[in-house]
Amino acid sequence: MYTPKPLFEQRMNSLLKDEEDKKAFWQIIHIPPQNSIRCNTIKISPEILKNKLESKGWKISQPYPQYKEILLVESELSPGELGKSIEHILGEYYVQEISSMMSIIALNPSPGELVLDLCASPGSKTTYAVSLMKNTGIILANDKDNVRTAILSANLQRCGSTNSIITRHDAVILCKKLEKLGIKFDKILLDVPCSGEGTLRSSPKTLEMWNLNMIKKLSRIQKKIISSAVPLLKENGSLVYSTCTHSPEENEKNISFLIERFNMETEKISLPIKCRQGIAEWQGEIFKKGMENCHRIYPQDNNTEGFFLAKLKFRGEK
Ligand SMILES: C[S@@+](CC[C@H](N)C(=O)[O-])C[C@H]1O[C@@H](n2cnc3c(N)ncnc32)[C@H](O)[C@@H]1O
Repeated sequence: MYTPKPLFEQRMNSLLKDEEDKKAFWQIIHIPPQNSIRCNTIKISPEILKNKLESKGWKISQPYPQYKEILLVESELSPGELGKSIEHILGEYYVQEISSMMSIIALNPSPGELVLDLCASPGSKTTYAVSLMKNTGIILANDKDNVRTAILSANLQRCGSTNSIITRHDAVILCKKLEKLGIKFDKILLDVPCSGEGTLRSSPKTLEMWNLNMIKKLSRIQKKIISSAVPLLKENGSLVYSTCTHSPEENEKNISFLIERFNMETEKISLPIKCRQGIAEWQGEIFKKGMENCHRIYPQDNNTEGFFLAKLKFRGEK
């Protein structure tokens, strides 16, 4: 078992509410996450998939009545069983953490839209977007990593996407190219590389790798990516920024930067899981107005992994 570094412990404790909250967080990070899957509605309806999986003897629940595509496999499975089933191979479901699904629920990509997913591999969110877009419009899915882009491609193919274009570029370079071409998007997802403090349940090794310099470095990279993406939004277009981390330098600080630098504002949205508002201040730095619309997802609140997201509307050039 990995133990948290004292600085990480101190920072997390100052983000959490009270003793009960802290205790729940430090306990749950050592418990493996639930088995959640998302029905790929391009291929099958949630009802039929549920019946098929139940006929294998799996216990399935649908915890969110408004989002029937989100399924929990409550029976004990052998390691790798979720990925080996025929239904998975056929692309009828995607194994995905519930908190990670929230980025797409927030973005709400619709049929016929032009969508950019700038850091897309391995495609958990791209494939969800494809199904909400009913395989229409276009989603441009980009990632800079060679191996991960191959997995993205395989996942989009497995899930039956016919509306996606895959590129392999550094996000900043791709944005400059698209800007020169004058291409603008209805919606952009920025699911940026991050320090992964929210993934401790599935990836306990993150505790060992954690360090503040990495957070500062990632925060700079994230700022560059988001600054290059905003000019690609249509007027009144929306952007979702998400990370699987809790550190304010990678979350509210970047949202505050976006609000200050561009003509953008955070949008109030409702999600089907318990979220806490973004923080208004961190280590003496007061963030711009709008943090109340940011969503902090802690693992102890919904028995998920940890996550952060915010939706912003672009009001056009200043
Ligand atoms: C959090 S992961 C994305 C997960 C993905 N959105 C999903 O839901 O499956 C971040 C991704 O950003 C990619 N990445 C890192 N730096 C990048 C850059 N400068 N430009 C484009 N992609 C980058 C990484 O290869 C990684 O796949």
